Amino acid sequence: MSSVQSGPALDEAKFNAFIGQMLSDLGGASSIAMVRMGDALGFYKELYEKGPMTSDELAKSARVDERYLREWLSNQAASNYLTYDAASSTFSLPPEQAMIFANEESPVYMMGGFDLMAALLDNQPKVQAAFKSGKGVAWGDQAGCMFCAVARFFRPGYLNHLVGTWLPALDGVVDKLKRGARVADVGCGHGWSTVLMAKAFPKSQFIGYDFHPGSIENARAHAESHGVSSNARFEVGLAKDYPGKDFDLVTCFDCLHDMGDPAGAAAHIRQSLKPDGTWMIVEPMAGDTLQQNMNPVGRLYYAASTMICLPTSRSQEVGAALGAQAGEARLREVIEKGGFSKVRRATETPFNMILEARP
Ligand SMILES: C[S@@+](CC[C@H](N)C(=O)[O-])C[C@H]1O[C@@H](n2cnc3c(N)ncnc32)[C@H](O)[C@@H]1O
Repeated sequence: MSSVQSGPALDEAKFNAFIGQMLSDLGGASSIAMVRMGDALGFYKELYEKGPMTSDELAKSARVDERYLREWLSNQAASNYLTYDAASSTFSLPPEQAMIFANEESPVYMMGGFDLMAALLDNQPKVQAAFKSGKGVAWGDQAGCMFCAVARFFRPGYLNHLVGTWLPALDGVVDKLKRGARVADVGCGHGWSTVLMAKAFPKSQFIGYDFHPGSIENARAHAESHGVSSNARFEVGLAKDYPGKDFDLVTCFDCLHDMGDPAGAAAHIRQSLKPDGTWMIVEPMAGDTLQQNMNPVGRLYYAASTMICLPTSRSQEVGAALGAQAGEARLREVIEKGGFSKVRRATETPFNMILEARP
């Protein structure tokens, strides 16, 4: 290598370690297509439900070509996504891997993450052009079904934490929800958060607002299929001027940093609340500095932020572009600008921080 390298001498150990990282990263990138095919063709689910199988057995069960499948299975075994037993020529999905690939109720079901990575790739031409122009890419103009990928990515976290831990971490909110409260879920997207809350608290009334009409249509369909249409409805609306007053609770799930004018949204939310109301802000987990975010979660969130969050915010008025790694200090500034005097971190997971803001 020294014959092609100029400048300071290479540290051989660091160089080899970095090549190792790159091989691993390229393997991860190649998994986007491989894992999504395994999902779409039902291979993980088949192995999850039926146990170890040879390539012949799985091909028959999943009704696919055995030769293609054998190559896919070999890649999955080499990736440590499946295990291979040479004696019986069978492939299996270990329980730990099943939590990621097959069990949709698991808190670490990551198929939505793979969909999201595919959506980032699809978005590249539009975002690349935005680097030059400095303009945004509107949420509704993003490539592929970014909205579906985002909804699928966040759902496991909401399913496993929202009703059980996040809402109880807020001061007095669960009691109000049990008795019957008025709730607005602003920037609700496909409405999974709204539907989960509506199911858990049938005496409360929920309204989801989002400025993207396609997402509102999806949210309505989710409400219908989950039998919560009587206490959850969805309307197209901007965070800065949705109608309605006297809400006991306003929620914003992973969307405040996507808004063009988050401080303007905060001010509108403030005046839509009852005097003793609560604003729950769920945001991606982040420290306040780049150094604090130099970890695997920060790495993924900076990528999503570059490809989705910044372009979305830049496409709107003000274009504050907080970014998905804004951090609590920057978020507090925005929330306080909107007229909230009490802000605290109510709870957190490795992926999200949950802030409680009160007037
Ligand atoms: C990352 S998605 C999160 C969606 C949903 N809350 C969830 O957690 O799955 C951000 C959402 O914010 C919405 N959004 C962005 N800016 C908005 C604005 N100014 N007013 C209303 N909705 C907005 C987008 O349409 C999108 O649905």
